[in-house]
Amino acid sequence: MVKAVAAAWFFVTALLLQGTLATQFTTALRSDFYDRTCPELESTVALTSWYKYTNSDVVAAGDLRIYFHDCWGCDASVMLMSTPDNEAEKDAQENLSLSGDGFDAITQAKLAVEEICPGVVSCADLITLVTRELIILAGRPRYKLFYGRLDGRTSRAEDAIALLPRARDSVDTLIQNFANQQFSAQEMVALLGGHTIGFAHCSEFDYRVYNYSSTVKERGGVLESDQLLFEHPLTKPFVNMYAANQSLWYQDFVAAMEKMGTMNVKNTPGPDAEIRLDCAVTNPRP
Ligand SMILES: *[C@@H]1O[C@H](CO)[C@@H](O)[C@H](O)[C@H]1NC(C)=O
Ligand SMILES: *[C@@H]1O[C@H](CO)[C@@H](O)[C@H](O)[C@H]1NC(C)=O
Ligand SMILES: *[C@@H]1O[C@H](CO)[C@@H](O)[C@H](O)[C@H]1NC(C)=O
Repeated sequence: MVKAVAAAWFFVTALLLQGTLATQFTTALRSDFYDRTCPELESTVALTSWYKYTNSDVVAAGDLRIYFHDCWGCDASVMLMSTPDNEAEKDAQENLSLSGDGFDAITQAKLAVEEICPGVVSCADLITLVTRELIILAGRPRYKLFYGRLDGRTSRAEDAIALLPRARDSVDTLIQNFANQQFSAQEMVALLGGHTIGFAHCSEFDYRVYNYSSTVKERGGVLESDQLLFEHPLTKPFVNMYAANQSLWYQDFVAAMEKMGTMNVKNTPGPDAEIRLDCAVTNPRP
């Protein structure tokens, strides 16, 4: 429970990482991107994710946090290990609750996919796909994905540290940070509702969604941020609205996830964009 709450808080803060990146929509990602080059991609990753999910009750939460940590420019930089002269994002103080199981779910997917179509699928796309599979396993409907992201070659711990919001940031600050990334207050509430997935089992997941507002009211807020969102006049109506209609919440959550996962991506091969062979290290230079 304590773990789940800590995880959920990290999820909220991870949302705001990379907050200073310039924002720009791209339309180059495609749902059929791997249809010819890796037709078994989705079925393969569905299997590896299922296996991971049945063996870990924190993996869905862990992976969702990794997605938010990485996206707003999803390039799998969050997966890179530190090298002797560079401390990676993963090793920043704030990564403490990025769960090892979440990283492992992506590593396992990558290993399986390299077996069937070597050198074809980026780690950045796998993060997106594994996240979707785990959300389905946690009891939510399937949604469509768009692919074609490339992996970055840099990851710096100070990027994560500099952009982390303070624990006591006000809702106004949260709204401003999201607005800087072209997300409305409503989209922000929809995304933050995703931390309910931290309770990976279906029944608890549903309980949290159905009882979102009553839980916040009765228990003084599972998260400080929940409490604040419930109280703030600009976010309260959305919290109430999503609490009353979970299919509406899920629909908006998926739309905001997709928006986040397609902004600032690298999709043109170049000096800082490649398909990593091992998600933890950049490819050796030829
Ligand atoms: C960050 O995570 C990695 C493993 O994912 C771990 O080796 C490292 O020690 C963590 N950093 C801190 C500061 O805890
Ligand atoms: C949700 O909360 C209501 C009361 O607030 C309670 O009666 C109901 O059992 C709760 N739902 C679940 C699934 O626990
Ligand atoms: C809940 O939201 C869905 C999706 O927008 C909508 O179709 C449905 O009518 C809503 N249900 C209620 C009870 O308002």
